[in-house]
Amino acid sequence: MQTAGKSLKQRALGYLVSQAHRPRGLVGWANGWMFAHRPSNRKRNIWAVSLLDVRPTDRVLEIGFGPGIAIAELAGRATRGHVYGVDHSQAMVRQAARRNAAAVRAHRVHLTCASVERLPSFGDPLDAILAVNSVGFWPDPVERLGALRRLLRPAGRIALVSQPRCPGATRDTTALAAQELQDLLTQAGFTLIRVETLELDPPVACVLAGNPS
Ligand SMILES: C[S@@+](CC[C@H](N)C(=O)[O-])C[C@H]1O[C@@H](n2cnc3c(N)ncnc32)[C@H](O)[C@@H]1O
Repeated sequence: MQTAGKSLKQRALGYLVSQAHRPRGLVGWANGWMFAHRPSNRKRNIWAVSLLDVRPTDRVLEIGFGPGIAIAELAGRATRGHVYGVDHSQAMVRQAARRNAAAVRAHRVHLTCASVERLPSFGDPLDAILAVNSVGFWPDPVERLGALRRLLRPAGRIALVSQPRCPGATRDTTALAAQELQDLLTQAGFTLIRVETLELDPPVACVLAGNPS
């Protein structure tokens, strides 16, 4: 059925994409629950953190943390450091804060409702930055990545992860997404770029890079 030029299916897809972009309301809460419990989502977040080589005293930032699975993993590694998280969805900040309540109370995890375009201050330079299935939603990603690079200490690390969730996504979709992330990182001034792949369906690409020292 066509409504005002768009089919019901197109409108439903548009709504789901907008909910992934900024989960809100009851559907947003349910989306967050799904992000937290879908086995492939959990696996990709835990795997991505394992690749970042986080040390106990590190200061780490995650952009677009959703329900906070990777935040919990990061906090489990940066046991004497600080984990910062920024997500522009109130619903996700609430879920992630509940999931990481003890570390938030201990002032080791700091979660802020903000967009990557308007980052709060993090004080001293960061050691590592992570974003999982989030960069695709950012406006002017090269500019955003350049700003993030300037928050990193020299030789600090960044990991950008993509598991394409569009209907019919395949290994080729993941490879294309990985290439796009590499190009963005190069344009933003990062070096030592490498790609790791996790064999899920569809595969997950993690593009790692460094801030030149
Ligand atoms: C598809 S979800 C992924 C959540 C989580 N990283 C995961 O893998 O389960 C994308 C997340 O990025 C956040 N996000 C999207 N655009 C953003 C922006 N411009 N600034 C901050 N957060 C953003 C959304 O609110 C959402 O929580």
